Amino acid sequence: MAYETIIVDVQAYVATITLNRPEALNALNSQLLGELCSALEAADQNEKVRCIVITGSEKAFAAGADISEMSKKSFVDMYTEKFFATEGERFNNIKKPIVAAVAGYALGGGCELAMMCDFIIAADNAKFGQPEINLGVIAGIGGTQRLTRYVGKSKSMDMHLTGRFMDAEEAERSGLVSRVVPLKKLKEEVASAAEKIAEKSLLAAAAAKDCVNRAYEVPLEDGLAYERAIFYSLFATEDQKEGMAAFLEKREPQFRDR
Ligand code: HXC
Repeated sequence: MAYETIIVDVQAYVATITLNRPEALNALNSQLLGELCSALEAADQNEKVRCIVITGSEKAFAAGADISEMSKKSFVDMYTEKFFATEGERFNNIKKPIVAAVAGYALGGGCELAMMCDFIIAADNAKFGQPEINLGVIAGIGGTQRLTRYVGKSKSMDMHLTGRFMDAEEAERSGLVSRVVPLKKLKEEVASAAEKIAEKSLLAAAAAKDCVNRAYEVPLEDGLAYERAIFYSLFATEDQKEGMAAFLEKREPQFRDR
């Protein structure tokens, strides 16, 4: 499929989706989000793909929702269009692991998009923020909820109320990102993480993703019961037999996603 606002590249089991609106620092308009969801769904269906990476440019992962597009909208437009709600649901339905590779600005909807991914690897020039307050609005695709779960109430309030940016070092210290690497090393580090993920059983990877995400949704007891049920269910897979046999036979496992 031909996309205009993103570039999709599939290499060695990893689909890399690059946001590509450099003239607007990858601001998320409806076209870009629609194309992103279609590309994610295609990667989820593609048997050659075992891990997905979303990235932007060296200057910006994404500087937020597109303010020119949003500025013209009324409450009725937002409400009837369910602005970015459908895209959020489509994103959350992706089963394969998604890594965000963030360099430069990840602001507003850009920060929210990064947080919707399964984890974030950041370059040392990354800047995260929820500056919507400066526009007279608030985050609208999960920022108040997800950032709070990532970094806690105090820092989240600080970010949402002052609109200040958080640099990569603070983001790592606060638990927003899993690793920070020099900008020049970002591609290599993300590729190596994605290739590691791609070596695993997709069934186990999807189960791990599902269960970790569940920790954000339900009380501990329910999450533990859910995890246990999924853990038991993996004993119905060939990959569990293969993974454990390979360990005991001191060889590399050959997972078949069965
Ligand atoms: C539309 C944007 C944009 C955005 C940048 N641009 N961010 N266009 N929407 N979110 C455009 C600029 O208008 C400019 O276009 C070009 O990109 C380069 O940006 P500059 O501002 O000239 O670059 P710089 O001086 O380096 O400043 C970078 C920046 C700044 C600090 C990131 O651009 C900025 O503050 N952007 C807005 C960040 C923001 O408020 N994001 C939250 C949006 S609301 P021209 O044509 O002039 O060259 C949101 C809500 C989510 O995300 C909820 C949705 C449901």
